[in-house]
Amino acid sequence: MLYWLIQTLADHPALARAEPPEGLLSSVEEARFRSLTREKRRRDWLLGRWTAKHLAAYYLEQVTGRRPALNDILITTDPDGAPRLQSQNGYAFIIDRLAISISHSRDHAFCALIAAPGYAPGADIEYVEPRDPGFVTDFFTDVEIARVHHAPPSAQPLLTTVIWSAKEAALKSLRRGLTVDTRQIVCLPDEPATDGWAPVLVRCHPELNAYVHHGWWRQMGGFVLTLAVGPSINAVDSVTEARRIGDGVSP
Ligand SMILES: CC(C)(COP(=O)(O)OP(=O)(O)OC[C@H]1O[C@@H](n2cnc3c(N)ncnc32)[C@H](O)[C@@H]1OP(=O)(O)O)[C@@H](O)C(=O)NCCC(=O)NCCS
Repeated sequence: MLYWLIQTLADHPALARAEPPEGLLSSVEEARFRSLTREKRRRDWLLGRWTAKHLAAYYLEQVTGRRPALNDILITTDPDGAPRLQSQNGYAFIIDRLAISISHSRDHAFCALIAAPGYAPGADIEYVEPRDPGFVTDFFTDVEIARVHHAPPSAQPLLTTVIWSAKEAALKSLRRGLTVDTRQIVCLPDEPATDGWAPVLVRCHPELNAYVHHGWWRQMGGFVLTLAVGPSINAVDSVTEARRIGDGVSP
């Protein structure tokens, strides 16, 4: 099962001030936060932790019937930059089976959590805006370029954003990030779904020696959200919206 949550800086007054909301961080995380120097990075980092911890707490409450304190859930960073969930007060047996992904854009954070050992989620959020035509030719494969060029001009900014975001989500699910050429992954989105998530076909170049089984996308406000999972879980009906917390973006 894949869970997701989106939150904004407006969801807690401390977040906009780039200060940790009380009870959010463990002492280890507090030290990491203090090491970040740029204010925008501090805000993004905090909002990502805020969102990911609420999502994990929601999941743990569903499974155990008890909601953990946010600072009992730790989010550490692996050497490649990927986030890892840990627990310091008795939830380790569940948390060890969870994997998360975090993305930020324009004062929003989007997180995904998967509760199946061996499966990794990739989440990405991007604001929809026109991009330079060179962006598509530089970063997209021939089939993606053709897809964008055949779309009506008014639809191209959305389509370009979905393809780009799906590549980022897929590369996060593979733990590669932008360390690899984005043309080694082909992402072809379905038409938008009227009621939520639409599939994205994701194919990896053989040189990547990797496989992403599923991708999805949707719009929310002025943003595109994408999710990827590798390897297999069941298709789009396994995407569940976690309980909304605070005043997030309205669909
Ligand atoms: C992963 C990556 C594509 C994200 O790009 P982005 O669009 O700038 O940023 P997003 O907000 O969507 O995502 C950032 C989040 O991706 C996650 N992330 C970073 N590297 C990751 C990786 N290799 N695999 C999976 N997730 C990763 C982190 O949670 C990060 O947020 P956080 O640092 O606040 O925890 C980009 O950071 C990248 O290519 N990294 C390459 C590897 C790298 O430079 N690692 C840093 C080593 S410390």
